[in-house]
Amino acid sequence: MIKSNKKKLMLTVILIAVIFISQSFTKSKPDGDDPKPTNLKVLPKNMTGEQIHALMRTYAKGLGVKCNFCHEQDKDNPKKLNFAADTKESKETARKMIKMVDDINAKFIGKIDSHFEKITCVTCHNGRETPIISVDSLAKK
Ligand code: HEC
Ligand code: HEC
Repeated sequence: MIKSNKKKLMLTVILIAVIFISQSFTKSKPDGDDPKPTNLKVLPKNMTGEQIHALMRTYAKGLGVKCNFCHEQDKDNPKKLNFAADTKESKETARKMIKMVDDINAKFIGKIDSHFEKITCVTCHNGRETPIISVDSLAKK
């Protein structure tokens, strides 16, 4: 009885050690789990996988959509998205939007007052795919 308990304890200790070692291996990867982007056409090419992922989350939240709004399913693994593919029109539209936002900030907002906050996707989209275009669409008081 005592012996088998000792065995169990030993096994648990070994298991914990294995988990620790494998975790320290995955953590030592320089770019975490996010692979380096391969198809950036408007964002700075030196952005890391982590930086892209964080920025992408602001796009999704800003428009109130999921990643698959702009990224198509991977053909080999339907559970994953093929982020580098340029098949969705919304991804192309988003590229134009990114340039537009950069332009507005550089040419206008920043020149009015250096203390003004830079605009982002959420400034217009407000959590919607399509921003409100007309005052008639505002909630009636
Ligand atoms: C509104 C559209 C939109 C949404 C939503 C979006 N993305 Fe993107 N994503 C883009 C665009 C546009 C690019 C390419 C930027 C460029 O060309 O510089 C891109 C590029 C990427 C890349 C780099 C691919 C490569 O190898 O070049 C990754 C990774 C990525 N997105 C992940 C995500 C994740 C994860 C989400 C959800 C949290 C997400 N995206 C949501 C528009 C979007
Ligand atoms: C200055 C306001 C403004 C900002 C800022 C802005 N957008 Fe837009 N966006 C629009 C307008 C206007 C439309 C077109 C709405 C319509 O269908 O009439 C649009 C449409 C889109 C669409 C197409 C939606 C669809 O249903 O096909 C995408 C994708 C998009 N924007 C992505 C972005 C992203 C990503 C950002 C931030 C990088 C951004 N937008 C920032 C105004 C803006």
